[in-house]
Formats: sequence, structure tokens, C-alpha cells
Amino acid sequence: MAPSAITPETSPERQTFVKNIKNSIDNHQPHTRPRNTSVANVTLNDGNSIPQVALGVYKAPNGQETEDAVTAALDAGYRHIDSAARYANEEACGRAIRRWLERTGNSRDEVYVCSKLWDADHGFEATFNALCESLDKFGLDYLDLYLIHSPADDEEKRLASWRALETAQRLGKVRSIGVSNFGASHIENLLKNARVPPAVNQVEVHPFCQREDLVKLCAKHGITIEAYSPLARGNKLEDPTITRIAEKYQRTPAQILLNWNASRGNVVLPKSLTATRIQSNLDSFDFTLEQEDIEAINALGAENYVTGSMHKSKD
Ligand SMILES: NC(=O)c1ccc[n+]([C@@H]2O[C@H](COP(=O)([O-])OP(=O)(O)OC[C@H]3O[C@@H](n4cnc5c(N)ncnc54)[C@H](OP(=O)(O)O)[C@@H]3O)[C@@H](O)[C@H]2O)c1
Repeated sequence: MAPSAITPETSPERQTFVKNIKNSIDNHQPHTRPRNTSVANVTLNDGNSIPQVALGVYKAPNGQETEDAVTAALDAGYRHIDSAARYANEEACGRAIRRWLERTGNSRDEVYVCSKLWDADHGFEATFNALCESLDKFGLDYLDLYLIHSPADDEEKRLASWRALETAQRLGKVRSIGVSNFGASHIENLLKNARVPPAVNQVEVHPFCQREDLVKLCAKHGITIEAYSPLARGNKLEDPTITRIAEKYQRTPAQILLNWNASRGNVVLPKSLTATRIQSNLDSFDFTLEQEDIEAINALGAENYVTGSMHKSKD
């Protein structure tokens, strides 16, 4: 309680009051924004939740341009960054994330960070070393999600990598573990051998590459699809069906592609280094496509990969 106005300046009560005020000014934390509620979360099969939209940073350089993009994304309301050891930009992402947390006073768990184990690092020990290196580069104590980037051919090593991921999760170095570019046979083989099922499978999914069988298999096992290249790398933005629907909703073609994907419950990872696109991609989720439009988009769905054969997950 504050001392009354008539308490003498020198009284112990007055001095304690002044000391407490001084402490509270010294320890003042900047105002913490409430968690951004416009970005939906998806609950994974391990009980953790993941923000449904991430900024993808494939081909983003390890420097200022990427730091600016990650900062713009976090300022806009993204709470999820999708990087990988292979993208060679974990340092730039980490710098931007740590600076943003410091500037805004938010805690580490406000930003969901994903990285991936590259093919050359498969095997139990090598996986651990690669994970530690990624953590060092980000300057973080843990990752929210760590993925095997692709199944690679050596099954024994792949399973050893998975055991390393399970161990890292038990040790608290990663919160959730998953895979990427796994086809049906890789998923089935992993499930037979794993203690912990993968929480996600990150694969190319967009209206022109819908991967229906793989998506169904993942759903059966509670594995969330993370849709990479959700903008089909910008190659399909002039498709007549997409532009017609975009006009109907007064949205951009990119927003139609992202909305369709998210409406299926998939996590989407649009990449952009352009601040205006980073913002408009985030503004893709506040409308609902009518059934007839969803059906028109579903009808586009041949397996039309834009990322090349390296990323085709064999079924
Ligand atoms: N696990 C894997 O093997 C794997 C493989 C591929 C991708 N991924 C992940 O998925 C993320 C996204 O995939 P992606 O990078 O292949 O392709 P994407 O997100 O489908 O497309 C990115 C391209 O679209 C442009 N773009 C972004 N927003 C746009 C908009 N609103 N209008 C017009 N053009 C727009 C970007 O240009 P600007 O940057 O110039 O804006 C860039 O050229 C990657 O960054 C990565 O995180 C993972």
C-alpha cells in the first residue's frame, strides 16, 4: 500500500515504497502483444499445436534480405518460419527471430521454428550433430519441429536418423518430429519401426498436385500435411480457373491457392521475400470458398509437380 501523504520523507515506510517503485521501473518489460489470433493453429498427433501458415525461406539468402523478410513476416502476424539446413539461411532466420523477440518482448514460444535434416547427415550420430549445428546457427535452445528432409535411399540410416529424432524429442531439443518428401511406402515402413509416429509429412501439395492417396494415408495415421510450394512457385497464377475464382471473391490468385490448401486442414508454407506479398499471403484465410469453387479447383488436381523429380516422393 502507498504511504499516506503525511508520511515523513525519511520514514522506513516511505523509503521501502520508493525502493519498490524504483525496482519496478528497473525491471519493466516492454508491453507484450497478445498471441496473434488471426493465424489458426492445427493440433498435431503429439498434442502440440502448429501455426497453420509459415513463411517458407527456400532459396532465401543468408543475409539482410532474409532477415528483413522474416522480420516483416513476424510483424505482419506470422508465427512460424520454415527453414532447413540445406537452405543455408538458419543464421539469418535466427538473427531475425531473436531480434524480433527482444524488440517486442515476446517469449521464445511465440515463434514456431522448423528446420530439416539434410540427406548427407543421415545416421544416429550424424543426425544429432546436424541438429546441434542447426540449433547453434539459429542461436536457439530448441526447435519446434525437426524433419527428415527426404527419405534418401539407405533405409537403415533413415531409421537410425528417426531414432535420433525420437531421442532429441525426449531430451527437449525438439518439440515435434516429422518427415518430408516421404511417399506411402516410406511412411508405412517408418510406422512399423518407430516408437513415435511422425507428426507431419511436408510434401508438395497445391491444386495442381493434390497427392490424394498420400494425403489420405497420412490422415489415416493422424499425420498432418505441410503443403510446400503452395503457390506452385508462382507458375500457375494465371490459370483460368484460378483467375476466374479470384475475380469472383475479389482476391488474388495466390490467396485462392492458399485458402484452398488451408481449407483442407493443411499447414501452408508460402515463400516470399517481398513485404507486400508476405502480407497479402497472410490475408488469405478470412473467406470461405463455396463448394462449387472447391470442386472446380479439385478438378485441376493432376500430379503436376513444380519442384522437379528430386522431390517426388515415390509411393
Ligand atoms: N521439404 C522440401 O523438400 C521443400 C521443397 C520445396 C519447398 N519447401 C518449403 O516450402 C516453401 C514454399 O515453397 P517454394 O519456395 O518452393 O514455392 P512457393 O511458396 O509456392 O512460391 C514461391 C514463389 O512465389 C513468389 N510469390 C510469393 N508470394 C506471391 C504472391 N502473393 N504473388 C505472386 N508471387 C508470389 C515468390 O517470389 P518472391 O519471393 O519474389 O515474392 C517465389 O518466387 C519453401 O520456401 C520451403 O520452406 C520445402
